[in-house]
Amino acid sequence: MSRILITSALPYAAGAKHLGNLAGSMLPADVYARFQRARGRETLYICATDEHGTPAELAAVEAGLPVAEFCALAHDKLHAMGRGFGMSWDHFGRSSSPQNRKLTQSFAQQLWEAGFIEERVTQQVYSLADKRFLPDRYVIGTCPHCGYEAARGDQCENCTRVLDPADLIKPRSALSGSTEIEIRDSKHLFLRQSLFADRLREGIEAKRGTWPNLVTSIALKWLDEGLQDRGITRDLQWGVPVNAADWGPNPDGQKPDVAGLEGKVFYVWFDAPIEYIGATWEWADAQAAAEGRAPKDEDWERWWRQPGAADVTYVEFMGKDNVPFHTVGFPCTLMGINERRDSAGRWTPSSNAPWKLVDDLKGFNWLDYYGGRFSTSQKRGVFMDQALELLPADYWRWWLIANAPESSDSTFAWEQFRDQVNADLADVLGNFVNRICKFAESRFEGKVPVGGEWGDLETKLQADVSAKLAELTGHMETREFRKSATTLRQIWVLGNQYLTEAAPWTAFKTDPVRAGVSVRVGLNLVALFARLSAPFIPATAKVIAEALGDAEVAGWPSGEGDLLTSLEPGRAIRAPDVLFRKVEDTQVAEWRERFGGAETA
Ligand code: MF3
Ligand code: ZN
Repeated sequence: MSRILITSALPYAAGAKHLGNLAGSMLPADVYARFQRARGRETLYICATDEHGTPAELAAVEAGLPVAEFCALAHDKLHAMGRGFGMSWDHFGRSSSPQNRKLTQSFAQQLWEAGFIEERVTQQVYSLADKRFLPDRYVIGTCPHCGYEAARGDQCENCTRVLDPADLIKPRSALSGSTEIEIRDSKHLFLRQSLFADRLREGIEAKRGTWPNLVTSIALKWLDEGLQDRGITRDLQWGVPVNAADWGPNPDGQKPDVAGLEGKVFYVWFDAPIEYIGATWEWADAQAAAEGRAPKDEDWERWWRQPGAADVTYVEFMGKDNVPFHTVGFPCTLMGINERRDSAGRWTPSSNAPWKLVDDLKGFNWLDYYGGRFSTSQKRGVFMDQALELLPADYWRWWLIANAPESSDSTFAWEQFRDQVNADLADVLGNFVNRICKFAESRFEGKVPVGGEWGDLETKLQADVSAKLAELTGHMETREFRKSATTLRQIWVLGNQYLTEAAPWTAFKTDPVRAGVSVRVGLNLVALFARLSAPFIPATAKVIAEALGDAEVAGWPSGEGDLLTSLEPGRAIRAPDVLFRKVEDTQVAEWRERFGGAETA
């Protein structure tokens, strides 16, 4: 049986996280991880904060904190929010960890020595007052197109035109406001992605039909436009330092220009995906520490390096904007380490154990808020921490998975949210569980009824449920989340239909044995619902399992055997508290007012 390695795109340490960030990567990855664990597969789900680069530096400046301190706080906050939403990460790491620094530096060194990195001189803006190079967005000036006075060097916020810092009239530093700036030459490292174009295309073509269309079409579009070599270093202070002094010669016998690369860091998009591996290393170190033993490389390498990782299936989850970096950027890094290129341009496998590349990539479209983008600055939309103050995580998890932006963008609206969670969770699932458990409490001494035989109704129910279960398992394996939620809801409905037909509440007066059979089957349906719903709404599934006398939710059913007979007759059960309270119209009105959306009514 294969092992499953799962990563979800690493959230930036800077900035608030809205429901769209959750819907398009972390949440579906979590549902999938929970499903695979329930299937009995050895599963590792890894995530981390993406902490380097300009956004973190700028956010720290705004917050008035040193950037390292800012990132540590942001990491803890995101970790707590993720756990609040039930993320079952095996590890939530930090791209600023020592493990990631070591890997990033070692990967860059191997890429250099294998002949896949080139040095180039580029022109950058230098601030004399700040004594540093300024990234494009740190340069502010007057827009040459519209005259807006606070246009940023990468783009004018007013007329949205894309700019080069050199276009700005009266350019000044965003840090100090100083106008003493000049263009200077600066040496940078470029990963020669163009050399990989054919191999990448071959790999992507082979995934057509398996990976979502969205993903293969974005990747092929990038390749069609001609793959550019990519600058993997920056003139910044915050990041993984370029350690060129340690590097040996490249296949042409050339050593890197150590002085020219002094004081530079790797580009955030170079070190961030490497943190998938770095965080796995962090996880292995933490495990060893918790068990009081010395850490072994083998513990994390068995997930990432051949031959140990031969039985690993690696699945990545992300929003569509991240697809190019995962279908092109990160694979180039890994392929370049797995190979060497000699001075005549011939490729040979490196002598190292090769690193594992992605097997399955699940990409998502956007989740909108009333048809527009979520926006922190315009106060539109619900953010992760606010959502948890309004309602428990399972409401959000259910709605976001049932409406996952898979084949197109999807839209959040309070009215639709209210209707769906009230119908699915409160009426179809919650009522069912409460009704049958209450009845068993009042009429069967809180025990699973003993005696009586199944009739046609039960045999048919078993066949129907078993067919739907096969469908659900199939959708979950292929990571079709909307379809999975639809099928799960249909299974809940089958249970409701059965109870309506069997009507133990009336049968009880005339045929208590018959009623006992239906109640027993009804309680077994409750147990089954907990097992099948656990990946989606884990907290509720646990409450149900506990009401039935189990400490934990049982694993995913294999399709045969005990589908409707897992609870032994005579077992004590109790009715749980109401599982889902209905979302009220007054709440919808209040939340629309508070989070925006009223103006689009
Ligand atoms: N932080 C990036 C974003 O939010 C995603 C990084 S994914 C990684 O868009 F692979 F680079 F880590
Ligand atoms: Zn402008």
